[in-house]
Amino acid sequence: MKTLGIDLGGTKILAAVVEEGKILASQRVSTPQTGASDVLDAMAEAARVLLERYPTVKDIGVGSPGPLDLKEGRVIFAPNVANMTNVYMVRDLKTRLGNEFNIVLENDANAAGFAEHLYGAAHAWHSSVFITVSTGIGAGLYVGDKIVHGAHGSAGELGHISVMPRGPLWGDGHGGTLESMASGRAMERDARYAMNHPELTTRDVFALAAQGDSKALKIIDNAAFFMGVGMANMQKIFDPEGFVIGGGVSLQGDAYLDKVKSYYNELTENYPRAEIQLAQLGVDAGVIGAASVALYPNRGL
Ligand code: BGC
Repeated sequence: MKTLGIDLGGTKILAAVVEEGKILASQRVSTPQTGASDVLDAMAEAARVLLERYPTVKDIGVGSPGPLDLKEGRVIFAPNVANMTNVYMVRDLKTRLGNEFNIVLENDANAAGFAEHLYGAAHAWHSSVFITVSTGIGAGLYVGDKIVHGAHGSAGELGHISVMPRGPLWGDGHGGTLESMASGRAMERDARYAMNHPELTTRDVFALAAQGDSKALKIIDNAAFFMGVGMANMQKIFDPEGFVIGGGVSLQGDAYLDKVKSYYNELTENYPRAEIQLAQLGVDAGVIGAASVALYPNRGL
């Protein structure tokens, strides 16, 4: 059955018609930085273009950064999307697209992890932790092949755990969260500060590191260390069969990933460990997962 997925990210919105985990058609637009109403308009417009081509599609899944309130279909706040606070995503998309659509909301990392569970790297596992490292950091927890939601739908907000209390203040209003220490945005901030250059990007940091730049190497090492801390903590709480790592930063190659693994190993010494795999569906995991949650209302196999 064909369903539509919409993956809302800090920099881009990707919508796609998906069948059996395969993308049939997609639309990609930049995420407006001018507030929630413009973001919803852009999401609806991307969806409309695809729905005109596939008029039988009535089920839509939305993957959004959170924390979310799943019962109300509401984004409580999305730290990396400008002015996304208290947004009734399901209601407001229905207003724009029509009440005939069944629209379900899911956390973007949960959705991506669900896709990896159904079609990708976590397929053989019954318990896994999916982690996305990109502009932000998020996680999807699977136990017994089902997404763990928690009471409100905000379980697995790995990016917001405290790894350095009172460290750099972040978008969620707290200092020293994992996202503030180890995300793509954190690396960018550190590079701009340490190298005194206001336009450096995370990509530049990796390019400079490849040339042996010592500050860039330290920034990556620091981010990888805190990611290792986050994963070791997850290991001890969930003891999953495996971790799947996705998101833009994970695509930067072994230099980063080998460090993450070595810190994870160091911090789980004497404990059972999980396998670590890269996401197989790459950057499409989010949109395929969003489309899949519309197919599986229980978010389980
Ligand atoms: C959000 C998470 C999301 C992650 C990746 C974080 O800022 O709080 O819900 O999964 O970014 O987009």
